[in-house]
Amino acid sequence: MILPITAYGHPTLRRETEEIDENYPNLNELIENMFQTMYHSDGVGLAAPQVNLSIRLFVMDASPLGDEMEEFKDFKKVFINPYITETSGNEWSFNEGCLSIPGIREDVKRPDKIVMEYYDENFEFHEITLEGIPARIIQHEYDHLEGILFTDLLPPIKKRLIKSKLANISKGKINVDYRMIFPKK
Ligand code: CO
Repeated sequence: MILPITAYGHPTLRRETEEIDENYPNLNELIENMFQTMYHSDGVGLAAPQVNLSIRLFVMDASPLGDEMEEFKDFKKVFINPYITETSGNEWSFNEGCLSIPGIREDVKRPDKIVMEYYDENFEFHEITLEGIPARIIQHEYDHLEGILFTDLLPPIKKRLIKSKLANISKGKINVDYRMIFPKK
């Protein structure tokens, strides 16, 4: 089932997220729905707050990048209760977008390398070290669990330039070809 995506300005995007355990109701179904929703809207990652749930969970599929980077061909993963424990390497800029902020893409600076602990969909514990694009996608999705959006990370001048566009998104004045939940007025 394709789920509607919370739009910029929706309070769930700013809310604190809670850890879950294997008893979380219909978890497998939720994960399946999140992947479906992500593919439907051409995303490479989707975090629970974007489907209006305040839990520490995001999904990601970097296999579209597999054309250029062999190692990510099957990089389809579920991250439950993730914590980034270390970031390192040089900060670099990459043009990011977000399904909750349609029509806006901006260069965002982030560190190159991360170490992250998480549980997979079978509640097995992992610690991974990643760099480059996958580390980038993960940092973006991880930020969603912390109530942070990529537009928060822009320099003040850029923020001013996109202010009215962001306001329009939160008012639903936007053309988008997937279903969204807008903040109540
Ligand atoms: Co996003």
